[in-house]
Amino acid sequence: MTFPNQRPRRLRTTPAMRRLTAETRLAPAELILPAFIREGLTEPNPITSMPGVVQHTTDTLKRAAAEAVELGLGGIMLFGIPETRDPEGTAALDPDGVLNKAIRDVRAEVGDDLVIMSDVCLDEFTDHGHCGVLDADGYVDNDRTVEIYARMAVAQAEAGAHMLGPSGMMDGQIAAIRSALDEAGHVNTSLIAYAAKYASAFYGPFREAVDSQLKGDRRTYQMDAGNRTEALREVELDLAEGADIIMVKPAMSYLDIVADVAAMSPVPVSAYQISGEYAMIEAAAANGWIDRRTAITESVLGIRRAGAHTVLTYWAAELAGWMKESR
Ligand code: PBG
Repeated sequence: MTFPNQRPRRLRTTPAMRRLTAETRLAPAELILPAFIREGLTEPNPITSMPGVVQHTTDTLKRAAAEAVELGLGGIMLFGIPETRDPEGTAALDPDGVLNKAIRDVRAEVGDDLVIMSDVCLDEFTDHGHCGVLDADGYVDNDRTVEIYARMAVAQAEAGAHMLGPSGMMDGQIAAIRSALDEAGHVNTSLIAYAAKYASAFYGPFREAVDSQLKGDRRTYQMDAGNRTEALREVELDLAEGADIIMVKPAMSYLDIVADVAAMSPVPVSAYQISGEYAMIEAAAANGWIDRRTAITESVLGIRRAGAHTVLTYWAAELAGWMKESR
């Protein structure tokens, strides 16, 4: 049976027609740029497995933040790489530690013109590379870690972060951080909760980016790749604990989770297109196997289409530049 009057192709005839009928669009304000700053650097340091991404110096980080404002990006998410590490991640609490200082510098540079976000996690600061402190058996000690996160969060809020990103997947971290912030008077410092964060091989290049000391994996705290229902439990807990934005991570292999969460979340949903997702597309494009710009655009569009309001992506600035150029 044919339906000669049913021709969906009519709406695809010209670029203008396709623009008119597009269901999902990208805007710079929906993009968040993750950025790394490394203590003691005098020149930016390229990350081999993430071509085009660097470990910043203070100066280049400030420039990247100023550029993000010019491009109209939604935010910047800061990660710090300290010079010295210890089992407790002490440098995370130092008001003059690399991350807290970077937050202050970026805030001085851009003020409130960009949402300044920072990573609340210990993996960059511990000499064993785990996201928390260890007990006598080498198990990541949930409750003692959460206490440290709460102090770390207050230090970051004091340094001037607008929004904090607890990424360690400890139980109760959002509640503990929220009450510590409130007690310290930071009632308006918001939380973007890494609610459904999976143990993923695609974090690989990030390990180089932050010079991670981790041996083994994070499977006792991050979620198992096959679990879908559990993501809703994690999201419900973080909502109840006071999350302002809910994040799913990684993005591309977890678009069903993004869609599930978007369908039930009363707060904005974000997704993190992580280092390995970036590296895969860059590597394939460098080999001439895919068209770089089209593939990047499609990948981020897909994450938005699945239901993410905002996307953390290492291509945020480049994508925003393309949008400017095509307007
Ligand atoms: C933990 C953290 C990680 C990433 C962001 N925050 C690493 C991990 O969980 O192993 C990964 C981001 C990426 O791969 O781009 N602080």
